[in-house]
Amino acid sequence: MQERLQSFVHVLRAFERAEVEFDPIVGKHAKRVGELAAEIAKVAGIPKDEVELVKWAGGLHDIGKLGVPTPILHKPDLDEDEWAKMRSHATIGEAILLDISPELAPIAHMIRSHHERWDGSGYPDGRAGEEIPKCSQIVAIADAFDAITHSVLYVREARLVGDARKAIGFQAGSGYDPQLVQAFETVLETQQRRRNIFGLGRLRFQSRPSVDDIEVSDVS
Ligand SMILES: [Fe+2]
Ligand SMILES: [Fe+2]
Repeated sequence: MQERLQSFVHVLRAFERAEVEFDPIVGKHAKRVGELAAEIAKVAGIPKDEVELVKWAGGLHDIGKLGVPTPILHKPDLDEDEWAKMRSHATIGEAILLDISPELAPIAHMIRSHHERWDGSGYPDGRAGEEIPKCSQIVAIADAFDAITHSVLYVREARLVGDARKAIGFQAGSGYDPQLVQAFETVLETQQRRRNIFGLGRLRFQSRPSVDDIEVSDVS
């Protein structure tokens, strides 16, 4: 896959760029999601060549939003039809990648399932537990973490890393695979240890003390 992937890298980069041009905040979020997802994947023992695919799936997880009308993307309260359109971004994203080439199916399928939840309440297929591709769950955790800590779309205000970690930890076993939540926590701890070594202090983002009103399931 690694070699075959190389022949599509320029197209994937073009889509990444299109995402940044379309909305710089969302584009940067996607890039960070790809990087964090790759870190989690390594700790979770995902094979090396698949880690590269997870990075792309994270970086392009919301590429399907190019197919969702802009007013819907920015509207805070969506009616049922609008939610259906919004939710379609997962399958549109998969279709875009498959249109580039069927060879990109592994990344496309990861994107399709990035809103599935461990308890089966997600979309588009309502898969549960091990039925959900592991790499999609990794992208979902990275997506939630980055959206909470950087205030992307539905998360109204950026929170501390610790708050985001707790919010995701609360959903181990309901939203996310508990083992992958563990891997995510290990990544955060390793990043913090590195910061300590270089005297950089705590991982920081804007603060808000409580996690009570964080709806991780709202993260899109
Ligand atoms: Fe996202
Ligand atoms: Fe999404």
